[in-house]
Order: sequence, then structure tokens, then C-alpha cells
Amino acid sequence: MCGIVGYIGHREAYPIIISGLKRLEYRGYDSAGIALYDGNDLKVAKTKGKVSDLIEKSSKEITKTGSIGIGHTRWATHGAPNDVNSHPHASNSGDLVIVHNGIIENYEGLKKELMARGYTFKSDTDTEVLINLIEDVKKKENVKLGKAVQIALNQVIGAYAIVVFDKNKPNEFVIARLGSPLAVGIGKDEFFIASDASPFLEYTKNAIYLEDEEMAIVRPGKEIKVRKIKDDSLVVPYVQELQMNLEEIEKGGYEHFMLKEIHEQPRAIRDTYRGRLLSNEGIIKMAGVEDNMKTFLNANRIIIIACGTSWHAGLVAEYIFEEFTRIPVEVEYASEFRYRNPVIYENDVVIAISQSGETADTLAAIKLAKSKGAFVFGVCNVVGSSIARETHAGAYTHAGPEIGVASTKAFTTQITVLTLMALRLARAKGTMSSSVFRSYLYELELIPQKIEELLKVDEHVKNIAKQYLLSTNCLYLGRGYNFPVALEGALKLKEISYIHAEGYPAAEMKHGPIALIDDRMPVIVIAPSKGHYEKVVSNIQEIKSRKGKIIAIVTEGDTAVKEIADHVIEIPDTEEALSPLLATIPLQLISYYIAVMRNCNVDQPRNLAKSVTVE
Ligand code: M6R
Repeated sequence: MCGIVGYIGHREAYPIIISGLKRLEYRGYDSAGIALYDGNDLKVAKTKGKVSDLIEKSSKEITKTGSIGIGHTRWATHGAPNDVNSHPHASNSGDLVIVHNGIIENYEGLKKELMARGYTFKSDTDTEVLINLIEDVKKKENVKLGKAVQIALNQVIGAYAIVVFDKNKPNEFVIARLGSPLAVGIGKDEFFIASDASPFLEYTKNAIYLEDEEMAIVRPGKEIKVRKIKDDSLVVPYVQELQMNLEEIEKGGYEHFMLKEIHEQPRAIRDTYRGRLLSNEGIIKMAGVEDNMKTFLNANRIIIIACGTSWHAGLVAEYIFEEFTRIPVEVEYASEFRYRNPVIYENDVVIAISQSGETADTLAAIKLAKSKGAFVFGVCNVVGSSIARETHAGAYTHAGPEIGVASTKAFTTQITVLTLMALRLARAKGTMSSSVFRSYLYELELIPQKIEELLKVDEHVKNIAKQYLLSTNCLYLGRGYNFPVALEGALKLKEISYIHAEGYPAAEMKHGPIALIDDRMPVIVIAPSKGHYEKVVSNIQEIKSRKGKIIAIVTEGDTAVKEIADHVIEIPDTEEALSPLLATIPLQLISYYIAVMRNCNVDQPRNLAKSVTVE
């Protein structure tokens, strides 16, 4: 949930660390800090707030020289976000410093033991306990830093990605990972350490991703040695060549990452089906599905596990899989699934969906499903992420880096992958005729072009947003395939604009939420022409007669809803099962513009972080 950056080499470390922290701010942004070593001493600056606050503070407080340094941007778990609790944390002697992403669960017990031995603590954090534990082990056992880190980590319970530096041994970092990601960029006589590769893309394309329970000593000019934390055995690290470009992680002229990512959806969806949807040949090819076709065809049930927006994509997939393949589907919040001793049968297939591939609850749910013998298939965006590695097989979404905390292109590309899977399995099972299958291939291939067209509604959406920016509540309604889209629309609005919003199946309105409707309640209704259209029109009438303000998402050429609704936004026509891919777009734009007009920090909403690597 935090971002960490380290640099050790021959360049000035400060600008590398600061720009790296800015790129990692999506991981947490309630405080930030940096420690630099200039050849003589360690200089530390840390502050509550964002990296921009850190820049201001370090300009006043430290000289920004030195070619070794570590930095951190935090999403608070233990201890309030304030200057003292910000990372880096130093040991009692002041010799060792650490940055940490994760949680040390048994820190209280360890803290008591250390206090009994005379250690004092300035912060409320688990991290300060860890660095003092390392110092204690180093002194007591009279061992080098690497060994001390290893012994200490074998005493902790929890999750971590850490970079540790000893000012008395200023030619190395000790790094380790368990449950939180850590990448090492390998340059010429220099190393870059970071929570993901974005901070060092302009310096090197060669990287190692530490696996769980691995640690390494990183010394410029020396080969990196990776070991298992538990038994000290050496591991041969896999050096990958990164495919990501710098442009992909920059705003590219857009005011916010979220807007850029909304507009990237046509490209992202094309990249997601490229090489898989072969319309000329009339087939779908997905390696992860082909290799496990028998398992899929024998499945009695599919269980989808995910959180947040990915869970909404799972709900859309439930409708699609059941309709296309006739395999029963259950969709579970990973956070519930992992703690409720779920019944899993031999022939169940579990699909785990996650943009980041690092969500702690989803990861734990996967481990649980595996321990009960299930085959687990991952749908992830981040290549090489923990979930991608933990699952038996999978399919990437190819959305490209999603930096805005509110998920947009991740959602539509997840639906694309899941639709491709359902179509492929439907053909293999014989539950869909070849002509229907071909018409879906054709329609799916047209979706990016239709989104491009749809994105032109920008100005119209802005005008609607202007009229509702002071609302305090908002209701989203949809039916069938578009019920999950209503949930997703409501989530987008609440997370970036802080307006309370609820998503409901349109027909459920009369079982309670209708009581909320009055002339101040905007109700966004997804009413495409295919799929329960008349029923949704009746629901719209019910809202109208209670004076609710109706913003309807309708298919181009609609006339009936236009007569009743206060505003309509038209989407191009498509197959009912594919309509979520279009209906979602105006909802993303509405939330975006309302949030911008309310002066909210769209890319970094309060209290949130992009990947939730803690429970
Ligand atoms: O990386 P994941 O897809 O596993 O993340 C799951 C949720 O944390 C995420 O979708 C969250 O709900 C987003 N902020 C929604 O916009």
C-alpha cells in the first residue's frame, strides 16, 4: 500500500527518488520521506502530505546531494499520517534506516521485548520496531547487516517489502520481500529499487522482481545475490526485459490520469483482444484457456473472487458465463470468501480478477481455494504480479498501467477478457451456435470504435455534471448485464467526488430505495434498448412520478425515454451482453467531471490507494 524507491550508484539520488515517488504516489499519498547519504552522513526529510510537500520540506531542511538514498510514500496502517510516523525510520543508534511497505503483525510483542532491552520509539509504526529489531540482532549476534535482516525477518509475522541501509557500510542495500512487491532495476554499476518498475524505466529496462520470501544484497559493481530468507539457499534470479514505455505512465496531455485512462479504453480493449479474437478465422484463441480446456469443460461451477471494481467485472461475467456456457457462476468478495470456509467441489473452477494483481484479500482467497484443491485462473493487468504468479493459469488484460486510483480501463478490459473466455468455452461446450458466436466476434471487435464515438459526448456530460455537482446523494439503476454497471457507476462517483451513491437493480427500487426519491435526488438509469427495456421504462416512470431527476443512458435513436428523462446520454447499439462495455463510459465521465468541478483530487482520492495490499 506504500511506494518505496531506492537508488545506489553514481548519479545524484535525490531527483531519481523524488520522480520515482511521484510515479508511485498512486500506492499511497498521506505522507512521504527521503533519506540521502552524501558520503559522510545521512540526511532525512519526512512530512505528512504528498511528495510535493516533501520537495518543499527537503529544500528547507537538507542538502540534496548524495548518490545513495531511499524514499517512501505512505498509505497509513499503523499510526496516523504525520511527520513522525512517515518513513524512512532510523534505528536507535541512527546508523540504520529503512523504508517498508506492508504490515508487521506481531510488532507489539517485539516492541515490548525491545523496550525491555532499553530501546525507545519515536513513532507508532511497526516499521520502527522492525529496524530496531534488525539493529538489536546485528549487535547481539555480531553479524553483518544482511544476516541481521535475515534473522530479524525470520522473527516477524506479516508482509513486507523493505530496503535497509547502514551508514557504516555505505556500499550496499539489503532488500527483502514477502507479500508486497519489489523490483530491482539493474544499471551499469548502479541499482534502482522500487515497488514497481515505473521509477527506473528511463534508466534501465533490465529488472528482477523478488519473489516472496526472498532477500538480496545489492552492491554496485557486483552481481546481485538473491537468497531465500528462511533457509539461506541461493536463488538464480530471472532478469526480465521490461516492455513498458515511459509514455504509458505519463499523463500525455490530459489533466488527470483518470481522464487519460478513460480515453485509452478503445486502445486497451483492442490490445486485450488482439491475437485472441480472430474474426477472419472465426475463432478465439486464449492460451491459458486452451491449455486447461478439459478442466473448464468439466467445471460444475465457476466461482469468481475479486474486490471493488474487479468484483463488479466479475458480476458482469456471471451474467455472460451463465448465458453463454450454462455453467453456474457464483461471485464472491474475496475478503468474505477467505474467512468463511467456503465449500469447494472437486470440479469447481475459481477465477480471480485483479487489476493490480496485489490485492491482499484476493491473494489470500486464491491461496485458500488452492488449498481446497481448486484450479484457479487469474485475470490480471499487472504482468508478473503476485496474483498472476499464484494462479495456475490466467489471461492478462493488456490495459497498460492504470495510475488513477479509480479503475476505468481495468474494468472494461476485464469484461473483455471474461467475454472472450465465455465465448471460447461456449463454442467448446456447444452451448452457442457458430452463427451467434461469429456475430459476437464481429460486435466485440466493433466495441473500441463505438467507444471512440461515445467519448465525443464529453461536453454534453460536462453540462449534465454541472447541474448535479452539489448533490449529496445519487442513485444508479440498471437491470441484467447492466446492474453491475450501476454498482460500478455508484462506486466511481463516491470514491472520487465523495457524494454518497448507491447502485441497485432497477426492479429492486420499489423494495426500499424508492423512499429516497424526491426532487433533489438524481437517478442515473441505464436503459439500453435491448434487455428489459420496457420494464426499465416503467421504473423511470416511477421515478418521474416522485419528481426524481432522471439521467438516462439510452441507445441511439431512443424516443420513449427521451420524453420522460431530464437528460439522456446516447450510447451506440450493440449486443445486450456487450452493452456494459459502452454504458460504463458515460458513467465514468459523469463521475470524473463532477469530481473535477467539486475540486476533488481525482487521481488520488482521500483515504484510498491504488492497490490494497493490506487486509
Ligand atoms: O487491483 P484490484 O483490481 O485487485 O483492486 C480491487 C479494488 O481495490 C479496486 O477495484 C478499487 O475498488 C478501485 N479503487 C475502484 O475504482
